[in-house]
Amino acid sequence: MCGIIGYIGHKQAYDILLEGLKRLEYRGYDSAGIAVQDSKSHKIELNKAVGHVEKLKKKELKGTIGLGHTRWATHGKPTLENAHPHLDCSGDIAVVHNGIIENFLEIKDSLKNHKFVSDTDSEVVAHLIEKNYSGDLRQAVIDSINELYGTYALCVMHKDHDEIVVARNGSPIVIGIGDNENLVASDVSALVEHTKRVIYLDDLEIAVLKKDSVEIFDKNGKRIDKKETVIDWDLTHAEKAGYKHFMLKEINEQPDVIRNTLNVELPEIKKDYKNIFIAACGTAWHAGLVGKYIIEKQARIPVHAETASEFRYSNPIIGKDDLFIAISQSGETADTLAALRLAKENGAKTLGIINVMNSTIARECDDVIYTRAGIEIGVASTKAYTSQLIVLYMLAEQLSGESIEGLENVASNVQEVLEKNHISDVAKKYFRVYNFLFIGRNLNFPTALEGALKLKEISYIHAEGYAAGEMKHGPIALVTDQVPTVAIAPKDSVYSKMVSNMQEIKARNGRIIAVATEGDKQITQYADDVLYIPNVNELLTPLLTVIPLQLLAYKIAEMRDCDVDKPRNLAKSVTVE
Ligand code: G6P
Repeated sequence: MCGIIGYIGHKQAYDILLEGLKRLEYRGYDSAGIAVQDSKSHKIELNKAVGHVEKLKKKELKGTIGLGHTRWATHGKPTLENAHPHLDCSGDIAVVHNGIIENFLEIKDSLKNHKFVSDTDSEVVAHLIEKNYSGDLRQAVIDSINELYGTYALCVMHKDHDEIVVARNGSPIVIGIGDNENLVASDVSALVEHTKRVIYLDDLEIAVLKKDSVEIFDKNGKRIDKKETVIDWDLTHAEKAGYKHFMLKEINEQPDVIRNTLNVELPEIKKDYKNIFIAACGTAWHAGLVGKYIIEKQARIPVHAETASEFRYSNPIIGKDDLFIAISQSGETADTLAALRLAKENGAKTLGIINVMNSTIARECDDVIYTRAGIEIGVASTKAYTSQLIVLYMLAEQLSGESIEGLENVASNVQEVLEKNHISDVAKKYFRVYNFLFIGRNLNFPTALEGALKLKEISYIHAEGYAAGEMKHGPIALVTDQVPTVAIAPKDSVYSKMVSNMQEIKARNGRIIAVATEGDKQITQYADDVLYIPNVNELLTPLLTVIPLQLLAYKIAEMRDCDVDKPRNLAKSVTVE
């Protein structure tokens, strides 16, 4: 979602901010803007654009202090007026904001003489700071956040101050410490080009960045010491490396990601939890659903895998004898974070399966297992998913005390799937349809959900994932020769049931793309097209069946000329509820 970048130093800020905004594009946005304190007049100059960051290139502003922002519309449409940075009435104060100010209407009402030009909740912050300002910008920000209710990562600058004031509550923000220059951004991808030394702000902390210093304060203005972290990745992770899209690169990285994640050492985890609760969103939730099947099968501990947005409002029956697992690529998803906090409040032990080091969820969990997926840029998650599955398999091994046969070879099996399938031919046959069904059973029911999610996210084809046994309870009514079904049917304990479902679809003129086990000749009688996976232990099939579905979604989206890495309306990191 919204991306923030700020710079103060000895270099011209504009290009640095523009480059930073490009690095943040993957988070998802629909307008962008930059504010720079003009080096001669000291006035704050603005440049905003609706649509791509690239449009900001046309105008360059001169100055060494500035803020940039990519906005994912919440309050008000993506227009120039609603794009950040926002100014106060005088034009002396500029603010960029990520999050949602819940009491913005009340504040707006109370600021009677102020002139608002946007529909946003964020603009009121600029005016509130204007009201509270009497020469000390940091104090004005502290006084203002005391009046705010909601979530925010805020960066503020003033024409008369050579500083950027930053405040956080609930939305991620990280400070980059440079040499005679300092930066601030929503995530480290926008900083690594300049520095690897960072400080993660926690909730209700305020930072004051000057050219040659960074000071952190609590909400009462008392100075606090914060530890610096050195980040261990460089920009090569964030480049396409010859691939047309990040998503394709990331799909192909999966064998390595699996090998790396298999080397992760797990923390000691008790074996006698009464229940395990998994909460996550989107693709990470699908990983959690696979985790439920695997852990229950192997360790016989009841596992409840829920979307975090439901879990948090369900008054869950969870306590000190239970383990709560948050799964999140970004480690910043607002609902997953709220679910985690609720589980903690109820006394559960908490464990994070997280990709981004030092992210908020990682920092707040009792234990954390880092997936080794590396930075994931494509909005549609692929390699993070398989790495989450690997951790869940390893957890199942630890909780059951038994190893899962074939897990050590699964990276090579994934490699085989990537090399062997003729996905383009299949995609060519179906890329013009309007609807798709995905069905699977048992371990591969979540694969059906994930396959459908991948396709709808990036190709905008309506796709539904269903438990195959539910077909007769509704979805079969949709079947025609114009609504293809992807049937995930590896040779496993529910294979014959899947074959029955496929026959029922065929009997109604439906077209079927099957994902099946190599050597399965029978399946060609029911399927129009078959995508094969190697013959592996049934438990491992979700790691393999998802690969052709990722590729199918990718190829179809490409044939439909969709913006694969930045699909419309979607954000990579969903930091508001
Ligand atoms: C967004 C992303 C998805 C992701 C989900 C959860 O919707 O577009 O790819 O699965 O958020 O994100 P998380 O970072 O918590 O895994």
